Formats: sequence, C-alpha cells, structure tokens
Amino acid sequence: MHSPRGSFTSRFGATVAVGGSVVGLGNIWRFPYVAGENGGAAFIVVYILMSFLVAVPIMLSELSIGREARRSLHGAMARLSPGRPWKFTGTLGVVTALVIVSFYCVVAGWALNFLGRSVVDDFAGRSIGEITGGLRAFIDSGWKPVLWMSVFLGLTAGIVWFGVEKGIERFNKILMPLLVLMLVGLGVNSLFMEGFREGMAFVLKPDFSKIDGAVVFQALGQAFFSLSIGMGAMTVYGSYVKRDESLPRIAGTVAISDVCIAILSGIAIFPAVFTFDINPTSGPELVFMTLPGIFQQMPGGYWVSIAFFSILFMAAITSSVSLMEAIVAWLMEEFRMSRRRALAMATGTVFALGTLCAVSQVEGSRLRVLGMDIFDLFDKTSSTVLMPLGALLIVVFAGWVMDGAMLRGQLTSMGHSSKRLNS
Ligand code: TRP
Repeated sequence: MHSPRGSFTSRFGATVAVGGSVVGLGNIWRFPYVAGENGGAAFIVVYILMSFLVAVPIMLSELSIGREARRSLHGAMARLSPGRPWKFTGTLGVVTALVIVSFYCVVAGWALNFLGRSVVDDFAGRSIGEITGGLRAFIDSGWKPVLWMSVFLGLTAGIVWFGVEKGIERFNKILMPLLVLMLVGLGVNSLFMEGFREGMAFVLKPDFSKIDGAVVFQALGQAFFSLSIGMGAMTVYGSYVKRDESLPRIAGTVAISDVCIAILSGIAIFPAVFTFDINPTSGPELVFMTLPGIFQQMPGGYWVSIAFFSILFMAAITSSVSLMEAIVAWLMEEFRMSRRRALAMATGTVFALGTLCAVSQVEGSRLRVLGMDIFDLFDKTSSTVLMPLGALLIVVFAGWVMDGAMLRGQLTSMGHSSKRLNS
C-alpha cells in the first residue's frame, strides 16, 4: 500500500478494465436465466431502469470514494471517516466477494468443461434431450463440477499471484470487442431459427402484469450483480482512474455496454430456447442446455462453439480475478499478511465453499438452506441481500458522511471533465 498506485493509461483503458470486471458470467449466464425465471420482457424493462437509475449512481459513489481516498473500500472509509465503524462496509464487501466467487467458480467450471467437450466434439449428433441429460449427469456426479471448478480456481489464483493488472487491461481490449462480435453473430443466427418470433416476443414484448415486488427485487439484484457494485470492487478501480478523467463518462459507457451485452445474450439464447422447447424457467442450467444445440445447428458450429466457450471462460476469469484480488488485498491490508499467505487462505476458503455449492446441487442432496441448495442460496443472497445492503451503506456514506465538496470534486473531476468533453 505504500508503493505509488498505478493508474490506467487512458480513458479507454480505464473503461475497458472496469468493463472486464463488469462483463462476465453475469451477462451471458445469469441474465438469461433470471430473465427466464421472471417472465422475460417486463423483467428486462425493470432491469434496464434499475441499471441506469439505481446502479449507475451507486457506481459513481464507489468510483468517487475510491479516487478520493486511493484505497480499497475498507481503507477508504477508514481514511475518510476515521474512528467510525464505516469501514465495516468494506468487510461486508469482502464477505460478498467470497460468496460470489464461490458459486462463480462453479459456473465457470461448467464453461471450461463445455469448452473441453467442444474441442473433442462431444456434442456432435446429440439431441437436446441428451445434452440436457448430460449436464444433469455431470452435476449429479458431484466430483466432476468440483474438478472443473478447481481448474478454474487454480487459473484465477495463478493470475492473482503474478498480479498481471497491466496484462489484463491489454487482454480486455481484445476480448470485449470479440465477445460482442460473437454475440451479434449468434443473434443473426437466431433470425433463422424456428423459435425466432416466440423468442423475440419473450425478450421484447413486455407483459407488465407480470411485475410484482419479487420481480423488481430480482431485477435490482441482477443490475447490481452485473455491474459489480455494492461491494467495493468499483472503489478499487476508482483509485486507479486518473484525476482528470470523467467518472460519469466511464460509468455511463460501462453501464450501456453491460446492458447491451446482456440483451444481446438474451437475443442469442431465447429464440433457441423456444426452438428446442426448453423451459425458460430452467434456472442456472438454462444457457448451458441451450448453447450446444445452437452451435450444432449452425455452419462451422464446431469452431464457433470452441470460440464461444473460450471467450466465456476469459470473460469469467477477468471477473473472478478481480473478486479474488479484493479478498487478497483485504487480508494483506488488514492482517499484514504476505501476498502468498493471503492468496493461499483465500483460495482454500473459496475451494471449500465452492465445493459446498457444487455438491449441494447433486440431486437429492440434503445440503439445503431455506429450501434452496447452497449454490442458489449464495447466488440469490449475494444479489438480493448482500449487494443491496452494501450499496445502501455506500450511498449513505457518499451522500451524508463524505465531505460534499470532495464528492462534487470527484464527480466533476475538479472541473477537468468539462474541458475533456471536447477531446
Ligand atoms: N459483474 C460480474 C459479472 O457480471 C460479477 C461480479 C459481481 C463481479 N461482483 C463483482 C466481478 C465484483 C468483479 C468484482 O459476471
């Protein structure tokens, strides 16, 4: 913490780095499954409103706190409000990161397994029923998801160990455009599917009678999850943004991209869901049941499948690295641990919790809390309880505790950003 902080080299660099954390499984895996469970288009409208009206201001608060204090959330709050208990918001954020990264690694493990199976052309000639059954058998084996999760977790820990921040910035610049390109390609491919009309209607034609409190809450949670807010991730990024960059521009660009990528993913997935007669409320498995079928039907599907799961894996790892880094940095700052020890502890804990998530999904498992398996419990509570609670504390801090002039200074980049609008 005593070494001078690095900073992003340009606005594009900063936007892309924040984008790398924000864009991940949340857009491609979680968005379609939660939209499917909550009735489609009406949910999507609420989700868009929540992203821009609620999530963006919170993101700005986090970025501002981070750039002002040049610390992680915990350190920043301790610095801006010394002697008061605000810093425990940072501790809550670390707990949130731990909960998220545990089930995140499980899903990323599925993606890796699907990448491996694409390479050996294992999906070729299989019916949707067989693909769905295969996924169920994979999950029910108990040990296979744990194995793939471990591979993913190991790779994440490896990147955190070498601390390739700069590398990740560079890698995101190529990855993001590639991901968008692939999704657009899949969207165009959807045009030729039998279920195109039905799928598009599901995504675009809202039935507002479907909106109730629970839907609004799920939409809020999805917006928070997808934009990585409510846990201090953005504070860390804020601390790396140069003083004269406009924070609202970065937050705006990132939020627009994030929402567009999620919707593109919906357009790519739902026509196929209806073509293959898959139930849109299938839950976390939805996207994995659908994608192999899409690839099978398209020309060059073998390569598209490999490319898609590779990109999905990379989008996931840029997010998991930043979640892990948040836990490791906290252990290092708070307990004066070496990087090596902190990483070993964090990885061990995530391995244990991730294993719990994966094993609880086995059919008939008794690892259930509140009627949910541990995977669902972590997935649901992180976005509907932990992140909103963290977000609430963060905005109250930014609005009432932090000095008003400081916050205003950050939001206007001390008057620099208006000048920069022309450049
Ligand atoms: N937004 C990420 C995604 O969509 C997941 C995520 C949630 C995250 N909170 C985070 C990533 C904090 C990094 C840091 O996949």
